[in-house]
Amino acid sequence: MDYNVELYLAIGGREALRPVITRFYAHMAADPWLGRWFEGIDLGDQARRLENFLCSGAPGEPHYVRNYPMIAHAHMYITRPMIKTRMRLLRRAIEELGHSPEVVRLWLKTDALWHSAVVKDSPQDCRPEAVGKPLKVIGEPPA
Ligand code: HEM
Repeated sequence: MDYNVELYLAIGGREALRPVITRFYAHMAADPWLGRWFEGIDLGDQARRLENFLCSGAPGEPHYVRNYPMIAHAHMYITRPMIKTRMRLLRRAIEELGHSPEVVRLWLKTDALWHSAVVKDSPQDCRPEAVGKPLKVIGEPPA
């Protein structure tokens, strides 16, 4: 079974995923570093997209029809330290909503499946032309 479907069943479906995702993006947007990615992004839309992505393939759920992570982030210079911060904020959102260690484990495992699709070693590895968006680089974390 796909990890996201395992997560979906363990947490109790779409309605249980939703508040975690909302909280997770609130943490991302409020973060002094990663928040720079979300300037001008509608967090409600963003949350719905990740929700649809994570529900895809679960019983009775529609297929995901938007861009997969490799394309969706092709214009973004995302680094490994950014992924580390994402994981910390994701774990925090899941735990704040009182979910079990098993749900934390499954969610972090699902997320990790996509890390190599979004991480780049240099801005030259970005492919903004693949998404028709300008290259986006947010720089180093604030001191
Ligand atoms: C630090 C790492 C990441 C950052 C900073 C980040 C940030 C973003 C941003 C800013 C967007 C909106 C892009 C736009 O509209 O131009 C986006 C879209 C999206 N991200 Fe991420 N992301 C990260 C990692 C991931 C990972 C690992 C996944 C997979 C679980 C993921 C799933 C998605 C999805 C499904 C969308 C919507 C794509 C679409 O509808 O076209 N992201 N992300």
